[in-house]
Amino acid sequence: TPYNVVVIAGSLRKESFSLKIANALAKLAPATLKLDVVALHGISFFNQDLEAAPPADWVAFREKLQKSNGVLFVTPEYNRSIPGVLKNAIDVGSRPYGKSSFLGKPIGIVSNSPGALGGVSAAKHLQNILPGISGPIMGQPEIYLNGIGDAFDDKGNLTKESVQKVLQQYIDAFAAFVEKQNK
Ligand code: FNR
Repeated sequence: TPYNVVVIAGSLRKESFSLKIANALAKLAPATLKLDVVALHGISFFNQDLEAAPPADWVAFREKLQKSNGVLFVTPEYNRSIPGVLKNAIDVGSRPYGKSSFLGKPIGIVSNSPGALGGVSAAKHLQNILPGISGPIMGQPEIYLNGIGDAFDDKGNLTKESVQKVLQQYIDAFAAFVEKQNK
């Protein structure tokens, strides 16, 4: 049976490049990996007052993470960091204290931007946020996709060959990483 990976796309907009990359990765993934792309629209704001009786959407998100064999973040860069909705989802998944749903999960990070720097600052911030609450983050290969604005056609299909090539390399490496961490 394949390993299940939760893919978290860090943008809410319909035409999100991050979401399109997540969907492209799901298609490129080898048979050993099953990618489940989750949207963050339904995750309510983290609020410590609600922790004793957590909202159903938090519980469902945490269970999905707990059942997974790994988590892959596809993040845009907002003001040199990750978008607030993504930080919120991480905060929700990280609680209760000491019982993070990311614990032990191998992590992949894919950043992207229509700009020149590929969202590298967002990726670096994720590398700071996650170690205390997750399993190991794959170090190599790194992937910061710049100039993503012309990579997809109007149906959302990935048409840029250079992007397809690095995404394939990345997801093959991540599949091997997930397999190793789950042994
Ligand atoms: C951006 N954008 C952006 N891009 C970048 O490379 N570095 C940055 O710091 C920022 N900052 C930023 C802040 C805010 C509030 C917005 C709305 C946008 C541009 C961003 O990369 C672009 O809008 C992407 O298309 C967003 O990702 P999705 O929605 O396509 O996945």
